[in-house]
Amino acid sequence: MDSVDDLAEYFASLLVFNILGTPENRSFIWMLSGGNTPKLVFRKIAANFRDVIDWDRVKIFWGDERCVGPDDDESNYKMARENLLDHIPIPSFNIFRIRGEANPVEEAVRYSQLFKRHVHPNQGFPQADLVMLGMGEDGHTASIFPANIDLFKSDALFEPSEHPETRQKRITATGMIINHAKVVVMVAPGEAKAPRVAQIINRLEGWDRLPAARVKPENGEMIWLLDRERP
Ligand code: 6PG
Repeated sequence: MDSVDDLAEYFASLLVFNILGTPENRSFIWMLSGGNTPKLVFRKIAANFRDVIDWDRVKIFWGDERCVGPDDDESNYKMARENLLDHIPIPSFNIFRIRGEANPVEEAVRYSQLFKRHVHPNQGFPQADLVMLGMGEDGHTASIFPANIDLFKSDALFEPSEHPETRQKRITATGMIINHAKVVVMVAPGEAKAPRVAQIINRLEGWDRLPAARVKPENGEMIWLLDRERP
């Protein structure tokens, strides 16, 4: 994409296209990513696509959450609420927040059970319709970091995790969800991430030790959304 604004517009159109392509009698499972990048995407959807989407059909989950309360500035839920959820007519019972304030081990189990209860299976695995991911400069995605990349191979749907520098406790989706999704969109614009993106896409030295490189939906579509706004 030429700009992050184009990228946000493209993501929104992709979301609409995939919702319309889902059987009428089924909910559309959209798993949100956290951090800062999604803010632009969420604002674009709230501003230009609010009335284009039948929000009664959309169920919102998160791919990861920081272990903080819902009103904490670090909360991915708070970021989504402020930039999207408060601005669209989505029923509150379609929003499934990870309880960052709870015990991480217990919440990872609870949220895994909740996800399984609401998400239609495909080939034996609960299949999210669209998993939105971001990537850190270290190549992490969701809250799977290079130091705990083995979380990708977990048999659990969600696991407790921890930020390697800040030691902030996290809860993250594992490869069981990410690589069984129907569509995965890796939203990774910006100059700072470009070298890491190039390393992964061009399979340069060490690429396969990066969590973002492990995102390979087995029976789904993988889309990298990048921008050209860099020299
Ligand atoms: C989180 C995210 C994380 C994020 C990347 C990119 O909870 O922080 O889920 O995986 O997507 O760190 O974050 P930015 O969009 O802020 O660069």
